[in-house]
This record gives sequence, C-alpha cells and structure tokens, in this order.
Amino acid sequence: MSCRPLLFLLAQTFLLFDMFLSFTLNNCTMEFSETETLSCQQRLLQKIPDDVPLNSEVLDVSFNQISQIKKNDLKRFLELNVLLVTRNQLQNIDDEAFVNLKKLRILDLSHNNLTNLTQLVFAGLHTLTSLNLEHNHISQIAPNTFQPLFSLHRVVLSFNRISNLADITALFTLPNMQQISLTKNLLTSFDSDDLPFNSSNVTEISLNYNKLQNFILKRDVFPRLSSVKLTGSQQFDWYVASDTFLRNVTEISLSESFSLASFSAILNSTRSLQTLLLTPLDRPTAKSFVQIACSTTSVKTLTLTFLTLRFIDHQFFQSCSQLQELKLPFNNIEQLSSQSFNSLTQLKGLDMNLNQLSKVPVSVRPLWTLEVLDLSSNSIREINCLDFANLTRLISLNLRRNQIVHLEQCYFQNLFSLDTLDLGRNPVHTIGRTFEVGLSHLRVLLLSGNLDQFWLGPGAFRNLSSLRILNLKSNKFIFTEYDVFEGMEKLRRLVSWVSEMSKELFEGLRDLVFLELHMNSFGPNTRTDQNSSDETPFSNLQNLTQLLIFVEPTFSIKIFPDVFQGLQSLVSLKVDYFFRAPIHRRTFTHTPLLTRLSVTNSDFSFLSAEVFDPIPKLEELDLSKNKLTTLEFLGNLRGLQMLVVHDNHLSIINETLFQSFPSLTYLDLSKNALLCDCLNAGFQEWVWSSNRTQVVGGASYQCMSPVTQLEQRFLDFDTRLCKIDIEFILFVSCSSVTLLTLVLSFVYHFLRWQLIYAYNLFLAHVYDTKRRRRNEAHRYDAFISYSVHDEEWVCHEMLPVLEGQQGWRLCLHHRDFQPGKPIVENITDAIYSSRKTVCVISTSYLQSDWCSREIQMASVRLFDEHKDVLVLVFLEELSPWRLSPYYRMRRLMKKRSYLRWPRASQHRAVFWQNLRRALESDAHPDQQHRLVQSEQE
Ligand SMILES: *[C@@H]1O[C@H](CO)[C@@H](O)[C@H](O)[C@H]1NC(C)=O
Ligand SMILES: *[C@@H]1O[C@H](CO)[C@@H](O)[C@H](O)[C@H]1NC(C)=O
Ligand SMILES: *[C@@H]1O[C@H](CO)[C@@H](O)[C@H](O)[C@H]1NC(C)=O
Ligand SMILES: *[C@@H]1O[C@H](CO)[C@@H](O)[C@H](O)[C@H]1NC(C)=O
Ligand SMILES: *[C@@H]1O[C@H](CO)[C@@H](O)[C@H](O)[C@H]1NC(C)=O
Ligand SMILES: *[C@@H]1O[C@H](CO)[C@@H](O)[C@H](O)[C@H]1NC(C)=O
Repeated sequence: MSCRPLLFLLAQTFLLFDMFLSFTLNNCTMEFSETETLSCQQRLLQKIPDDVPLNSEVLDVSFNQISQIKKNDLKRFLELNVLLVTRNQLQNIDDEAFVNLKKLRILDLSHNNLTNLTQLVFAGLHTLTSLNLEHNHISQIAPNTFQPLFSLHRVVLSFNRISNLADITALFTLPNMQQISLTKNLLTSFDSDDLPFNSSNVTEISLNYNKLQNFILKRDVFPRLSSVKLTGSQQFDWYVASDTFLRNVTEISLSESFSLASFSAILNSTRSLQTLLLTPLDRPTAKSFVQIACSTTSVKTLTLTFLTLRFIDHQFFQSCSQLQELKLPFNNIEQLSSQSFNSLTQLKGLDMNLNQLSKVPVSVRPLWTLEVLDLSSNSIREINCLDFANLTRLISLNLRRNQIVHLEQCYFQNLFSLDTLDLGRNPVHTIGRTFEVGLSHLRVLLLSGNLDQFWLGPGAFRNLSSLRILNLKSNKFIFTEYDVFEGMEKLRRLVSWVSEMSKELFEGLRDLVFLELHMNSFGPNTRTDQNSSDETPFSNLQNLTQLLIFVEPTFSIKIFPDVFQGLQSLVSLKVDYFFRAPIHRRTFTHTPLLTRLSVTNSDFSFLSAEVFDPIPKLEELDLSKNKLTTLEFLGNLRGLQMLVVHDNHLSIINETLFQSFPSLTYLDLSKNALLCDCLNAGFQEWVWSSNRTQVVGGASYQCMSPVTQLEQRFLDFDTRLCKIDIEFILFVSCSSVTLLTLVLSFVYHFLRWQLIYAYNLFLAHVYDTKRRRRNEAHRYDAFISYSVHDEEWVCHEMLPVLEGQQGWRLCLHHRDFQPGKPIVENITDAIYSSRKTVCVISTSYLQSDWCSREIQMASVRLFDEHKDVLVLVFLEELSPWRLSPYYRMRRLMKKRSYLRWPRASQHRAVFWQNLRRALESDAHPDQQHRLVQSEQE
C-alpha cells in the first residue's frame, strides 16, 4: 500500500507529456455518430458558439436566441455540410458570413426574423443544394443575392412578404433549380413578362395562398414544369398562350374560388394532368368541378380535401371511371351512398383517412380492383364479413386509429394478396381465430398501440407463413401463451409483450433478426415478485442481431448465467430493469460479436471485469441509471468508443483508467455524485485539457460533496492546493525515501510479525474499549471476509442462504464498508461490530494481503476476548504444503472449528445447517464442540 502515492506521482509527471486526451463543450454536444455532428439546440445561445470543434460536418443551433450571424462566426467551420439555424431570432446576417463554407449543402434559416437579403449574404455557397428561408419577414431581396447558388435544387421561401416576382427571378435561372416554394407571400401577379429569361429548368412551383390576380404565360419559359400549386388564390386570370407550354405538367392544385369556365381552361391547357388536388370545395359547386375534372381523361389521381359535405351521393363520382386513385382525407364524411363508387372500375387506391365514418362504407365492396385502402383515423366500430370479401387484390389495408373491438375470422379471409395490415391504436379486445385463414401473403402485421388487453392462444399466427414483421406492442398488454409464435418461420422482426422468456415461445423463429420484448406479469394470478423463465430462452435465435428487453419496474424475472446462449450473431443488446444483481461473468460468453450494449436500471453497484472479457469488440456501452461506484471493471475494453454512465453513484474518477481506451470519444458522466477534492484533481485536469475524449455536459457537472463545495460546478473547484501538496510531498519524499527504505526494510525483515501483531492488538483494544463503553449491541451477525475472486460464490451461493433463508444480518465489504474511511478502520469496525467473523478461504484468499489482515485481526479478538468469533469456511481442498507458509492459519485450524464446501450438491444442505449452528453458538472456545464436515470425515 505504501507505494501507491509514489506511483501516482510518477504517473502524474508522465501525464504532463500526454495531456490532450479529453475535452468538454460548454454549449454543445458532439453526437456519437458517423458524421461529425455538433448539436447545440435549446441552450439559450445568443451567438454561434465559438468553443467547439471546427471539423464538424453538421452544426445544429436550432431553438436558440441567436439574432446575428457575424462575418467571422462561421469562418473556420471549413468542413460544414449542414447548417441548421431554425427557430432563432436572426435579424441580421453579415455579408459573406458563409463565404468559407465551401462544402455546405443544406442551410436552414427558417423561423427567424430576417427582413432583408443583401447581395453578398450567400456569397461563396457554390455547393448549396437546399435553402430554407420559410417563416421569416423577408420583403427585400437584392438582385444578385441568389446568383452564387448554382448548385441549388430547392428553395423554400414560404411565409414571407415577397410581393414582387421580379425580386426573385434569379432563382428561376439557376441551372439546377427544381423546386421553388413561394406559398403564403404577397405576390399579386405571375406573368412571363416579368421573367427576363428564355427558359428555366424549374419543375415545381408552389404559389399557394398568395393574392394572385393572374397567371400568364406568353412564352414557353417552363418546359420542364411538372407541378403547379395555386391553392388559395382568389378568382384570377389564367392565360397560357399555347397548350404546349404546360405539356409536362402532371400535377396541379387549385381552389374552387373561380368560375367553372376558368377551371375548364386550366384543365384544357394541362393535357398531361394526372393528379388534381381541389381544396377547399363548397358543397353546391363541388359536384360540377369533379365532373369537369373527371371528363378530362388524363386525370388519374383526384384529391379532394376540406370538403364541407357529410354525405356523398351516387352521382358525385359518376364520370370518374378512369380514376386510379381517389383521395378524400380531412372531409368530415360520415356517409356515402352505397353506389357512390360504382363507376370507379379502375380504382387502385382509395384514401379516406381522417373522416367521420362509423363503419366501412358499403360502397367499397364492389371495388375489386383496389390495391391500397386507407380508412385510418375514423370512428369505425364494426366490420362486416362482406366488407372486404371482394377485395382480393388488396395489398395494403390501413385501419389504424379506429374503434374496432372485435376481430372475426371472416373479415380478412379473402385478402389473398394482402401484404400489410395495420390494426394499431384500436381498442381490440378479442382476436380469436382472425388470422387462421387467408392472409397467406401477409408480410407486415401491426397490432401496436392497442388500447385494451387481449389474449393470444397457441399458434394464433400459425397460418401467416409469409409474415416478416409483427408488432404487438400495446399500451396495455396482450396475454400470450406458449407457442403463440409457432409456425412463423420467416418472421424477421418481432415486437411484443410477454410474461416470461421461454425457449418454447421463440423456438421456431430461426430467421428473426430483431426482437423487442416488453415484460410484465399478466392477469391477477401471476405473482409479480418472481417469475420462472427458461435458462436459455433464446438458444434457437441464431440470426438475431438486435435484442431489446424492457421489464416493468415492479416485475422481476430470474436471470440465469446462460440466458443469452445461442445468440451468436447478436450485435446490439439493450436491457432495462433486467438484471437485478451483479451480472454473472458467463453472461456474455455466448455473444462474441456484441458491439453495442446498454444495461440500465439494474441496481448494481459493482461489476466484475470478467463480465466483459468475452466481448472484446464492444464499442458502445451504456450503464446509465445504476448504482455504480467504480469504473475499474472497464479494464480490458480497448475498443470502447462510447461510454455512458449517466445517473450512477460515481464519486471519484481515476482518469488514468481512460488511457487504456485509445478510441474513446464520447464519455457521459452526468448525474453522478462527484467529489470535489484532491482525489479528483487529476480527473478534473484531464477533462479540461485533452482533446480526444468528449466529456459530455462536463461543464454542468456539480459537486455532490464535500458539503462546503455543494452547488459548485465540478470543473470550477480549486485544485491549486492539491498541486502545492504534491510538489511538497515530492520534495520531502525524494529526500527521505532512501533513508526510509533502509529503515523499513530492516524493520520488516527482523520484526515483521511482532510489529503487525502489536499494531493489530492496539487497534483492537482501542475499538473494543470504545464499543464496550458505549455498550453497543452487535450491528451484524457476521462479517464475511473473502477475496474478490470468490465474490460470485459469496453473492450467489452464500448470501441467498444466510441472509435470505436463515435471516442473518451480514456485513460485506463491497456493500457495507463506509466509503472514505481508511480500510484498516473499516475492517476493525466490521469485526468488532459483528458477532462472528466468517473467513471464506481459498488459494486467492491466502494470497491476498487484506484478507490475511482480516484473519489476524479476528484472531486477535479471539485471544483478547476469549470468545469463539472465528468460523473458517474452506472453498477448496488446500493441501498442507500450500498452507505451510500460513502458519497462523494452520495453528488456527488445529484449534478451531472449520467447514468445508462440499463439491457434491446433495451434501450442501448439511453444510448450511452446520454453518447455521456455527453462527448461532456464542460459547467460549474451551466449551465448543468440533464441527465436522460430512464429506470426508
Ligand atoms: C457558452 O456557455 C457559457 C456558459 O454557460 C456562456 O458563458 C457562453 O457565453 C456560451 N457561449 C456562447 C457562444 O453563447
Ligand atoms: C421575431 O419575430 C417574432 C414574431 O415573428 C416576434 O415575436 C419577436 O419579438 C421577434 N424578435 C425580434 C428580436 O424582433
Ligand atoms: C434593409 O434594407 C434597407 C435598404 O435596402 C435598409 O434601409 C434597412 O436598414 C435594411 N434593414 C435591415 C434590418 O437590415
Ligand atoms: C438546365 O440544365 C441543363 C443541364 O441539365 C443546362 O445545360 C442548362 O443550361 C440549364 N438551363 C438553364 C436555364 O440554366
Ligand atoms: C417531360 O416529362 C417527361 C416525363 O416526366 C420527361 O421524360 C421529359 O424529359 C420532360 N420534358 C422536359 C422538356 O423536361
Ligand atoms: C379546350 O381546347 C380545345 C382545343 O384544344 C378547344 O376547342 C376548346 O374550346 C377548349 N375549351 C376551353 C373551355 O377552353
């Protein structure tokens, strides 16, 4: 022990040469992702942060209070690809503020207070492809503002105050420009006379909700135009000189607030029209508009939204026999005449999302050509067996967000082509045999977000032999039985509630690659405290790469050491409230490819390093929300790139630990109980000074102790005193170390045992007198002295019996030692506040310094008090020659009782019985009886 401080000092000195290993950002986080992403949202920033890595490819400063971008703010971000400044208060951007961003592709300046765009504001943005300026107050744009943007594909200028087309003509002449959105501006005229160029490459123009009075094309300026949006414009003049000018327009959106004559004229000049969106429509005129639209033979897709009518009669779509797609979302439709779709003999898609239907419209029944049917977000309660009976070509059926309670076998039985069925967000209560017929091509079945509980019996999905994706995640839960997933050999992704993990449940799912389980106890009879599960529930899932298990906090399951056996392809594992005891070291031996691991809410304070030995490929580790007090277990994870230990009980961080992780770039230690004193001085310095590992949120870590430093920021506590200390100690120790070594080695060589004995006796005496004076009862029944290597036996074998079954109060060093107290004091305290001391003896116990100290101390008490305090438990057969160096031990064995842990399990009950007797006896040594182990003697 005495050599530790010196080593520490030496390490410190060497560290000075290798200081740049970590850093922390005040206002941003470098995301752990492939691209260098700097995310600084919602931090009340008032300017672009300057204390961040300049090699970022993505910079996101959305949702702040930035009002200006100055010329130098972004000068050094040479690698920037994406810049997001949405939802700030930008009023001003300096000229050439972006001039150095030679790689910028996406710029989002939406939701700000910009009013002017000056000529040089976008200077240099030659690679920009997408520019978003919506929701500003832009009214003035200098003539050449957009000229540098010759890679631009898409610009959004919606919700501004642009009133003059001439201000933005430059946009139309950009060689790569395709989409221009000018929705909700103050434009009054769109006239080719205001466009001083020959032709433009633009394909989509949105002019929705302007105050347009005319749309005039006298020349062929938009040969590539395919989509024009003119919704919300009042009565306006439409003049297109030739019906070839808009030859490529396939999509148009309009409101009905102009005459039927202009409407015909528009349709007459757009001969390739396929998709027509009419909104909003008033009841009396709607039918005439639809009739005109449908008699224009090219129209294949008709979308009608914001209709005020509740009922659609049988004439409404009479002339629409050529329609292939009919979309009627957002219309308040409650009823349709049963013949309303009769003439739609070519219809492939019908969308009635977001209406007021209370059942599946009868008018759907004759639509045997239908491939896609969307009835989501209605109030459908019932389905009739005939509703879908003719829809044998249906590929996708969406019934999400309705009021469906019962599912019957006849509903879907004729849907032989169905690929995707969405029944999510319904209060489904019974499923019964619904999926037992038909649906042989179903690949995707979504029953997620159900509002009630339902029950699934054995083989409920057996017939769905093509199913690839099944989602059963619901708000409440689904009762499942054994074999519920039987016969689903092709299933690749499964999300479900289950009440136990059994081998039978997952047996046939050989192709499964993704499994997400939500575990709870179902039904009132299941005991919630403990549940039986198989030892190797996943052993057949050899192709599984991703496994997520979320256990309800009030539910606990028994986890066996080989629980992950068979998961040889597993790459990513996330478990929450899963392990409730330290992880067994065999747990990950079955998942050698594991690279991402997240174990949260597992309550343990300790992990053994051996747990991670079998998964050397681990790159991302998240151990948030546990009670870890140390990170020493990380030792061998050399490939670690991300470590998140948010919300644990870490108080002292040994920064030298991080030197063994050359790839560690992301470290999150937030919400721990950091100690602000010299023990953490090295760690603080490491956070400040290095540039390889990002300490996420480091600037806001707070001191949890000592009391004088509470509320202070961890990075601010003063370490100067620690340094003075260190220098002084260095000086003193350097000069005296030689002398001391001489003296010590002399003493050690000749007076070793006498010294140790005297020291222990002294300590023991002091503590015992203290205790007797206070007349204290014993706090514990027994102090267990053992080596770390035997921890597993102690925790898994001994603890459950002694504490669980026999009810003794035990004192264990990893659990009950007071942190911060010197270890010798802790040991003495433990021995004297326990009635007995049980020594768990093995080879490693004998080799450990501390353990032999514990044995000495206990034997001192034995001689001192003449009480039978010591119980020896031998974990392994130790031959006399191995014991010979431990003469004290041999002497004890001659006089004391001792027990041997039997290898055969049937003798173990006797062993525990004997141990119980040993713990009960309070006799003096001379009266005691010799306890004998039955196996040998
Ligand atoms: C970053 O955060 C610190 C402290 O919270 C603040 O003082 C500083 O002004 C911030 N930087 C920027 C650019 O806003
Ligand atoms: C920015 O505009 C919003 C409304 O669009 C307004 O509420 C806010 O006060 C403006 N901010 C500044 C700094 O002008
Ligand atoms: C906008 O530009 C005009 C002149 O073009 C100028 O007078 C005005 O101050 C500018 N406003 C802002 C906020 O830059
Ligand atoms: C349209 O794009 C082509 C290349 O696709 C280009 O040659 C032409 O100059 C562009 N037209 C305009 C008006 O920029
Ligand atoms: C018109 O559209 C068709 C199909 O979308 C396309 O192949 C053709 O190139 C377009 N014509 C022009 C002039 O862009
Ligand atoms: C539609 O165009 C045809 C010629 O292509 C013309 O005869 C007819 O009058 C036009 N109809 C309307 C309403 O403009």
